[in-house]
Amino acid sequence: MNMRIPLSAPDITQAEIDAVTNVLRTPNLCFGPELAAFESALARYHSVDHAVAVSSGTAGLHLALITLGIGRGDEVIVPSFAFVAVANTVRQVRAAPVFAEIDPLTLNLDPSSVERAITPRTRAVVVVHTFGVPAQMDALDTIARRHRLALIEDACEAIGAEFDSRRVGSFGNMAVLGFYPNKQITTGEGGAVLCRDASHAARLRSLRNQGRSGDDWLDHAEPGFNYRLSDLACALGRVQLGRIEEILALRSQAARRYDALLKDVPGLELPLLELLRRKLSWFVFVVRLPGGVSRNQVQTAMAHNGIATGRYFAPLHQQPAYRARPGTAVESLALTEQIAPRMLALPFFNRITQGEQEEAADALRSAIDHARHSPPQVSVDKLVGNSEASYLDD
Ligand SMILES: Cc1ncc(COP(=O)(O)O)c(C=O)c1O
Repeated sequence: MNMRIPLSAPDITQAEIDAVTNVLRTPNLCFGPELAAFESALARYHSVDHAVAVSSGTAGLHLALITLGIGRGDEVIVPSFAFVAVANTVRQVRAAPVFAEIDPLTLNLDPSSVERAITPRTRAVVVVHTFGVPAQMDALDTIARRHRLALIEDACEAIGAEFDSRRVGSFGNMAVLGFYPNKQITTGEGGAVLCRDASHAARLRSLRNQGRSGDDWLDHAEPGFNYRLSDLACALGRVQLGRIEEILALRSQAARRYDALLKDVPGLELPLLELLRRKLSWFVFVVRLPGGVSRNQVQTAMAHNGIATGRYFAPLHQQPAYRARPGTAVESLALTEQIAPRMLALPFFNRITQGEQEEAADALRSAIDHARHSPPQVSVDKLVGNSEASYLDD
């Protein structure tokens, strides 16, 4: 259905158009100066030594796991309340994702649940800064060090966020960024891996480029991938990164407007505008519907008014791709299971207007009211069956 008010929208100015057009006038559409300049800008912004641009956040997670030596027989602790790439990429290196519980306030990995999930096979933790809210990095870092685990930050949703005045992406052994068009900054498709270790950076650069070891196009040190990011994408990303303060301020303003518009809706829980020790980077505006209100009904009613909404996220341990695999969750993930079905993302993007937010808020208010007074219909939350990916099995 075509929505009048979309869930997300990229914010492309003439500066981005000029930057991409300029690249098109050069012979360097790939591996040109924009790649190097974008990578340097990302590394500087995050105060890390190396940034390696890749074709997506998923590609970044995949390469981070390989480069850290995660493989067959290893376990990697990940949140279940997360985007599916965090588990898929663990499986793609033949390791097992072990799902841990979230903190209900931040929706990020609960450090005590992480600690309970550690076994002799655990090698790494992928900590997601969900919706742009930094995870409890001090506790997670302590746990990772104590148990000698690699810490991978998935900062795909959180560029610019800070924990204790330090930018996310600068804590872990490696961090991954994502630049899909719904993200705070975009390159169309794209991502990056941040790291401190020069040998890791060299391996990441080789792996993203078919495992090439040097300048010789036909010299392959190991089997690699085509996870390159074009200079067109890097030029776009560089301008977007240059605008990040403006972008984060616009998103923060939009979040505050929703808060003012929705704070009196009975039973509706809004994301916190401020959190101790954290600077937020608003990725999405996700509300928790009042208990007993059918999300499906609310979404349908809003869609009839031309207002897009999203379901962020379905618990990964309940997905057909993961639920049948024994040992993927070490404890019951009651909070994840209770919270996830109530989560509803509202239209949220840099240039959303006060009028659009008022419309979305009014539609949400009446949809909740209506859902409270009429029986629920069949839920779209019901998962559709999907066979296991046989190509991953031996
Ligand atoms: C937390 C998280 N990790 C990873 C990804 C994957 O990024 P991409 O879509 O660029 O592959 C996303 C993207 O939505 C994400 O939100």
